[in-house]
Amino acid sequence: MPSPADCRIEIVQTFDSAARASRKVANQIAELIQSQRSAGRTCVLGLATGSTPISLYAELVRMHKKEGLSFGNVTTFNLDEYLPMPPAQRQSYVRFMHEHLFDHVDIAPTNIHIPDGTLPVDQVEEFCRKYECLIEAEGGIDLQLLGIGRTGHIGFNEPDSSQDSRTRLVTLDPITRGDASTSFDGIENVPVQAITMGVGTIMDAKKIIMMAFGNSKAPIVARTLEGPVDSAIPATFLKLHPNVEFVLDSAAASKL
Ligand code: F6R
Repeated sequence: MPSPADCRIEIVQTFDSAARASRKVANQIAELIQSQRSAGRTCVLGLATGSTPISLYAELVRMHKKEGLSFGNVTTFNLDEYLPMPPAQRQSYVRFMHEHLFDHVDIAPTNIHIPDGTLPVDQVEEFCRKYECLIEAEGGIDLQLLGIGRTGHIGFNEPDSSQDSRTRLVTLDPITRGDASTSFDGIENVPVQAITMGVGTIMDAKKIIMMAFGNSKAPIVARTLEGPVDSAIPATFLKLHPNVEFVLDSAAASKL
């Protein structure tokens, strides 16, 4: 197991605001999309939802509208979706992605992949197997974006998820459900389960950028970056990835 000293300092970048951090990540994504296009290749992005990437997606939309950034060669795979979750429901990650990104850029609808929250439980396993195959058929994920939950989850890989876990049905941690309770008007309305890419699926990405903004993330960011690699905090597995960046604002970095 690597020691805390193994967390290479150069992989942590702290910005004075979430807006600046988001612009930096948006620029990296734009460069990747363009370099893949120049090479005649598709750019495969793994995408996250939640509050963290909202300003990043706004910046990508701005770049599309004002600077001609095209998503014509982009294919996306989202990390996760609640189960059950109809796509039109306010809290749906399908709806989130369309409202914040997809409806405002030139991505082909057939290139968008999001776990299906409408499936009966007995069809989820087969769906997850196909999701993994689709990622593989695209040649793998070039860049995976992540936020981090206060439990240390990445995607919905809650504490004790294994390093080699794949896309699957999971039970959400009570802390995660509590954090979602405001948007669901009460914890009793927050689904108990979700479909998520696994830690292993995420770790297979060629590059990973984890973003964390705000004071509420400071304790889990410090435990992730300064503690040992441990399945009790799935985000610590990211430190074993050869090409990972942790992009923080000063509030999220305040306990480092
Ligand atoms: C969302 C996801 C989650 C979030 C995390 C942080 O697709 O996979 O892991 O990234 O819960 O959420 P926010 O950004 O709302 O603090």
